[in-house]
Amino acid sequence: MLQGERMDSTTGGESLRIIVTGGYGFIGSNLILALLERHPSWSIVNVDAVTYAADPANLASLEADPRYEFRQIDIVNRDAVRALVQEVRPDGIFHLAAESHVDNSIRGPEQFILTNVLGTFNLLEEARQAWGGDASKRFLHISTDEVYGSLGDAGAFTEESRYEPNSPYSASKAGSDHLVRAWHHTYGMNVVTTNCSNNYGPRQHREKLIPTVIATALAHRPIPVYGRGLNVRDWLYVADHCAALDLAFTNGRAGETYVVGGRNEWRNIDLVRMLCRLLDEEVGAGPDGGYESLITFVIDRPGHDARYAIDPSKIESELGWRGATSFEDGLRATVRWYAGTAH
Ligand SMILES: NC(=O)c1ccc[n+]([C@@H]2O[C@H](COP(=O)([O-])OP(=O)(O)OC[C@H]3O[C@@H](n4cnc5c(N)ncnc54)[C@H](O)[C@@H]3O)[C@@H](O)[C@H]2O)c1
Repeated sequence: MLQGERMDSTTGGESLRIIVTGGYGFIGSNLILALLERHPSWSIVNVDAVTYAADPANLASLEADPRYEFRQIDIVNRDAVRALVQEVRPDGIFHLAAESHVDNSIRGPEQFILTNVLGTFNLLEEARQAWGGDASKRFLHISTDEVYGSLGDAGAFTEESRYEPNSPYSASKAGSDHLVRAWHHTYGMNVVTTNCSNNYGPRQHREKLIPTVIATALAHRPIPVYGRGLNVRDWLYVADHCAALDLAFTNGRAGETYVVGGRNEWRNIDLVRMLCRLLDEEVGAGPDGGYESLITFVIDRPGHDARYAIDPSKIESELGWRGATSFEDGLRATVRWYAGTAH
């Protein structure tokens, strides 16, 4: 339990007022639902600019929940962030709002610098001023393993890995990580940073690999796979990630970083083939030769990192976290959600 947490009189849990930024996005929406489930006495303010990546329908089930509020705020707007933090007086902030798509960062990097770097600065600075050195208030910064660059065939990223970002997206996230670290070392702010691998699961924007594969397959259109599909990613089910974020916020050590990954490495082509098999099983009605016959290789993304993998030993041993969901179970649930066959 964080110092200074208040006890909720009805549930015996801690009654915290929490800001989640980016709550209409993929991970943010799954996180808000998970936190309210795990901590019935928390109240959550979702702060989101509602960019193209947001989907308010993700949280439609909370519209009448008195523990939940939404504020449409662009974190690049310092005055708006100040007014928000002064009004809400949060006990903690889960910071997820970001521009998150690598391809977009290659086409237009400026918004990534504004949201990911300047937006993080605005939140840190306004939280620091509002909290006035109260070390019981915690800022959890959600970042990516892409800040560590690319791996060869062996090895895995740990908290000790060197920062080597390769895309405008990962460079902007690396910049935000450094700001968070500095606000701890310089001002003593109670911060924790998590760097996770690729998430998958329900509510992800359709621009990302797995939803794209499912949507194009269901439309019987060619399924695009970059290069020869040999890039390796370490897939993490979003619900397992949310459990890790809850633990890092509740029990993580101030100033520490935790890398989070599912010990679940897959080459893109093998992942796409498995998705096609699950679509055959769950949906059927594919083209002759099954959904796999739709796979089409397309020109590779510039600077495409070859392999990411995470060694999550620290969060496993210190916080008792485990990626509980098998890939087959997680992907099947994801296919069902997108195909509308969830039951
Ligand atoms: N999805 C992944 O696999 C993954 C992996 C590692 C790290 N992360 C990190 O996790 C966080 C969440 O990722 P996601 O996949 O849910 O992203 P997402 O793109 O699905 O959602 C981002 C949300 O942030 C909001 N947002 C964007 N700019 C904003 C601004 N200026 N002010 C306020 N809100 C703004 C958007 O409207 C959207 O709702 C990001 O910080 C991302 O870098 C994601």
